Amino acid sequence: MKILPSELAIRDFEGDAVVVGIYEGELSPTADQLDNVIGGAISRLISAEEITGKAGSLTTILAPAGLGVLQVIAVGLGEKEKLDYNTVYRAAASATKALSSKQRSKVGFYLDDFWPSDLTQQAIAGACVGCQGQDLYQAKKSSYQPELIEWFGVEEATIETGIALGNSINLTRSLVNRPAADIYPISFADEVAVVAEAYDLEIEIWDQKKLEEEKCGSLLAVSQGSDQPPRLAIVRYNGGKSGDAPLALVGKGVTFDSGGLSLKPSEGMKTMKCDMGGAATVLGAIKAIAALKVPVNVVGLFGLAENMVSGNCYKLGDVLTARSGKTIEVLNTDAEGRLVLADVLNVALDEKPACIIDLATLTGACVVALGEEVAGLMTNDQPWCDAISAASAKTGEQMWQLPMYPEFGKQIRSKVADIKNIGAGRWGGAMTAAKFLEEFVDETTWTHIDIAGPAFADSPKAWVDAGASGFGVRTLLEVARNLAK
Ligand code: BES
Ligand code: MN
Ligand code: ZN
Repeated sequence: MKILPSELAIRDFEGDAVVVGIYEGELSPTADQLDNVIGGAISRLISAEEITGKAGSLTTILAPAGLGVLQVIAVGLGEKEKLDYNTVYRAAASATKALSSKQRSKVGFYLDDFWPSDLTQQAIAGACVGCQGQDLYQAKKSSYQPELIEWFGVEEATIETGIALGNSINLTRSLVNRPAADIYPISFADEVAVVAEAYDLEIEIWDQKKLEEEKCGSLLAVSQGSDQPPRLAIVRYNGGKSGDAPLALVGKGVTFDSGGLSLKPSEGMKTMKCDMGGAATVLGAIKAIAALKVPVNVVGLFGLAENMVSGNCYKLGDVLTARSGKTIEVLNTDAEGRLVLADVLNVALDEKPACIIDLATLTGACVVALGEEVAGLMTNDQPWCDAISAASAKTGEQMWQLPMYPEFGKQIRSKVADIKNIGAGRWGGAMTAAKFLEEFVDETTWTHIDIAGPAFADSPKAWVDAGASGFGVRTLLEVARNLAK
């Protein structure tokens, strides 16, 4: 899909479709022009409340006389004063998704005649995401990207950054959507290397032998039952001043989570190719940060393992020694994400980061607490968590803080080891998991984002296909940009 800037008036546009933005309560200049060309149809539809302009609404007008296209997609943008990143991201994504049912050669985007470039960037990213689906393995695709989009009233540079962001989100999505037979620790590490190569990032990949030398006993235990050897990948993007402490982004990359001996039922296991969603989000974010040349130092760390059952898998009652030296009693092999992250967080400390964010599809309990659309934030440093909350409010990727009361920490005390890998019962599982992670970040400023809910969806939204959502990439980019200010 190509996106080109255009100055062509809507009346002169010829192609398959035009997408027009409709505010609630007023006509944008482009909508007004369109209205004039098609004989006041837009005004009449608004009067009749067939078009409301409400954010998230979408109306298709077929074969309007006077216009050189077969359809007009009118997307609601809400009130003009309240226009924000998420509204334009979703509006543009809904439009390309609506048009993705078949191959179109040329589509005009006339959302408004002028927006600040950061807003347009989000819209362009949305347009890229809306027309990529989870049909990666279908002979006959379910979604098609328009060959060409002509975007009205935008600078070339904004198109480039918008596409870079959209491609980064789509990278995250396709990694998550690809099954465990395709994305396993080695192949995920290869994907990290592709990004590193493209943007000239420093890269280190730790194989089984190196992980053993480094005494990553916690991560190694998780991968022990799998025929797929584990990896730990590290990439460094040095966009900031040399010597400035980096932002560390740490991702859970369990490429498949069967639960191990604490085996998941089929219902819970069937989407567990998504359990590397944290790692995929970190890779997408680093791709975006590097492509947009954000002036900040970032190190990404990916803990890659497959949690399987075999004659050699780790067992309940095992006591592991993590890289930090702490011992862990395993009482549930399905609480494996925290075991992987324990060692990766410890490796992250070697990078002397200014602050850490880890992302993980860590607990079903977080989904119970916050639902499928909201990520959980847990932290040891309130200002750092506030910074992430603020970035998430800006992008509209919803995140909500959960408490880290000492009581949750008491639940993971063990009688035989320093800590155990589950809490006392099923209640509060998102927080007991976060308390476990906290044990491995020492005093470093850290926030954990549990994305078990929003990373993957069973059913589609108007703006994105079912499957991987790419949730978190836009917020991480925003966090990095704010650090660079
Ligand atoms: N990967 C799962 C969490 C998950 C659940 C992610 C649903 C996405 C959707 C994680 O490894 C897990 O199995 N957690 C257990 C923890 C429990 C054994 C303490 C859970 O949530 O049940
Ligand atoms: Mn698990
Ligand atoms: Zn898991």
